[in-house]
Amino acid sequence: METGKPLRLGVIGCGFFAQNHLSAWKEIEGVDLVAVCDVDPPKAQRAASSFAVPRLYTDAQDMFSKEHLDFVDIVTLPPSHRPLVQLAANNGVGVICQKPIAWTLEDAQAMVEACRRAQVPFMVHENFRWQTPMRELKRVIDSGAIGRPFFGRISWRTGHDLFAAQPWLRETPRFIVIEVAIHLLDLARFLFGDPQTVFCHTVRVNPSICGEDVATIVLTMDGSTCVVDCSSATHNEPENFPQTLVTIEGSQGTAYLGADYQLQIMHSGSLKVQTVAIPAHAWAIAPWHVVQDSVFNIQRHWVECMQHGRTPETSGEDNLRVLELVLGAYESAENNMVVRLV
Ligand SMILES: NC(=O)c1ccc[n+]([C@@H]2O[C@H](COP(=O)([O-])OP(=O)(O)OC[C@H]3O[C@@H](n4cnc5c(N)ncnc54)[C@H](O)[C@@H]3O)[C@@H](O)[C@H]2O)c1
Repeated sequence: METGKPLRLGVIGCGFFAQNHLSAWKEIEGVDLVAVCDVDPPKAQRAASSFAVPRLYTDAQDMFSKEHLDFVDIVTLPPSHRPLVQLAANNGVGVICQKPIAWTLEDAQAMVEACRRAQVPFMVHENFRWQTPMRELKRVIDSGAIGRPFFGRISWRTGHDLFAAQPWLRETPRFIVIEVAIHLLDLARFLFGDPQTVFCHTVRVNPSICGEDVATIVLTMDGSTCVVDCSSATHNEPENFPQTLVTIEGSQGTAYLGADYQLQIMHSGSLKVQTVAIPAHAWAIAPWHVVQDSVFNIQRHWVECMQHGRTPETSGEDNLRVLELVLGAYESAENNMVVRLV
């Protein structure tokens, strides 16, 4: 790759969440969004005109044949992730893929292997750890202010109608763990390290969906325990959607990220309270702004990694651990047992 030249990018999948990716790409320096692709022609057309993208495609192979791309950003549904990532690898193009990387470990491993063999960089768009309050929490832990963490709770509970914008979530056989708690499981790894065991209990409250919509998960790490709880069936007042609340208890103090990004740090008998400011983006809209900012942050991280030949934090290989955790949680829920992770 020639240095100093903008990286040429194509986005594959121009549906609901891709709007955030597209907005962020237009804001990030060093990239040139040259093409969009969606099998649904009006969606490709709408994305091209809204984001001033010069060329549009309805077939990914056609886009790879006609464009000279440095990387693609895949924002389609999980079953299409493997063939599209393999197509990118076969075309020698770097690839970002939305979470979940895949529904099976076999598919995910094949994707990682295809990119390794083609020597193209591969990142999973696992954005929650890139939320500004989560970076701040990590900074607090790493500063030693609360000592050695021994307990965590990572909580995401809402009554917000997720199905209005993403009707496909009603039909998906597995829902809250693989679609939403997946982010919290990666956050647990980010804040506490890789778990050794997982126990999960799931419930389906909403009778009109196929999958589970409530999950309570207990993770054990070396010297710490973390509870991950996630629900889209919760009656909340006030409604905190789409906020994640986090408690971290350490040997010297406690950090608590509460509603509206209020961060309390208690250590050495003193309490410090601050509101974490979410960086503003012209296209971001509350209450989604914390997520939209994280999309910007992870995509900028990818560009920096490509420019400097670094491995992204949430590389495909790293993300295999997240999928193992998700699948371990389902195995635990189905068999009512603790699952040991390798
Ligand atoms: N990180 C987050 O916070 C977050 C939030 C929402 C969704 N997501 C993820 O984003 C992905 C997309 O979800 P969504 O709700 O935006 O879905 P969506 O159905 O709204 O959009 C998917 C788009 O991909 C297109 N598509 C499907 N197959 C294609 C192919 N082979 N080539 C080109 N286009 C193709 C569809 O026509 C559709 O427009 C999922 O993996 C989902 O889990 C992540």
